[in-house]
Amino acid sequence: MRYDFETVHKRFNRGSNKWNELARFGIKESDDIIPFSVADMEFVTAPEIVEALKHELDTSIMGYAGATPEYTSAVCNWMKTRHNWNAEPEWILPSHGVVDAFFNAVKTCTNEGDGVMLMTPVYYPMYMAISNTHRKLVDNPLINTGTKYEINFADMERKAADPSTKMLILCSPHNPTGRVWTVDELTRIGEICLKHNVLVVSDEIHFDLVMPGHKHTVFASISGEFADNCIVMTAPSKTFNIAGLQTSNIFIPDPETRAKFLGGLELSNPHPNCGILGYRAAEAAYKHCGEWLDECLKVIDGNRRIITGFIESELPVLKVHELEGTYLMWIDMRGLGLGYKELERVNHEEARLFFDEGYIFGEQGECFERWNIACPTRYINEALERMKGTYSKYIE
Ligand SMILES: Cc1ncc(COP(=O)(O)O)c(C=O)c1O
Repeated sequence: MRYDFETVHKRFNRGSNKWNELARFGIKESDDIIPFSVADMEFVTAPEIVEALKHELDTSIMGYAGATPEYTSAVCNWMKTRHNWNAEPEWILPSHGVVDAFFNAVKTCTNEGDGVMLMTPVYYPMYMAISNTHRKLVDNPLINTGTKYEINFADMERKAADPSTKMLILCSPHNPTGRVWTVDELTRIGEICLKHNVLVVSDEIHFDLVMPGHKHTVFASISGEFADNCIVMTAPSKTFNIAGLQTSNIFIPDPETRAKFLGGLELSNPHPNCGILGYRAAEAAYKHCGEWLDECLKVIDGNRRIITGFIESELPVLKVHELEGTYLMWIDMRGLGLGYKELERVNHEEARLFFDEGYIFGEQGECFERWNIACPTRYINEALERMKGTYSKYIE
């Protein structure tokens, strides 16, 4: 490996959302424990990004900034080379984050009382984008076939046909189930939405994080009609572990939808933009960090294989959902026979393991754990041993 995927910077008292939880449970810097929760990686930043940021600090001042032509061309070039999608620079609108962006899409492209569909269980802020803005949740539960989730298209079509359903927030790849939707699945979703005038908000923040044997398809790349009926939300934040730099790229090919979305941004700020360091880091990442990403994916894939193999042989009461994309593994722990609150307690207090609890993604997630595996492999091995030791008490 050319890059470092072993060093961990313990982020106690550094304002890290993920690490703050450990401190809350009395875990100290000297304890060799890391959290497996919030979706940022425990990998040090790619040196090319660090260099670009240092260069900016050394040679510029931190004034207001916007996207430069070099920046948008680096973004579009990444879409072309990694995702075979011809995106136009003028389709891109800025956002500090994809969460901000899907809240804005709901506010600007639907009205109070309208229905917004989610394929559940799903990333929990999507529920909040609906409830906090007084829209109506249209629940399209995924079908759990045991170790994989499938889409219930009949249910989707029936609910999309209700004239009050105006939007689908598609999570692609899907957090927390780890599915990478196939082009056939995306095409069926797109056709249903076109037929019933449902706008697709495609949150593709995990689009670069795909395991061997799977392929991510940008929703808008499937057809011109789909492109005109969607908003594609991307960011370098998950891919290159720069979420704290708050830089996202929101692609809206249709001018009318783009104007609505921009109107929403301008409602609270006439000059919507990201920060100068975010732009510089993202540009460097898209131009120079393809190799870093390829190595990073190998580490994640290796961790995924270790977990799958260990659970199959040592803890077969647990079920692992195949990780097709993202670095978030979805583990079904119902076989332990614990209630979901008890499972949380056992993990925190006995196993000293800090996953994201499945129930935060919806009722279907009760007694599941979402395991962030973007970390050095030694922590994965240690966690598996602790799981085995702790769970053996509960396995009859
Ligand atoms: C599907 C999905 N969308 C959005 C986000 C967060 O996006 P941002 O930090 O850009 O607001 C996450 C983070 O885990 C996510 O998994």
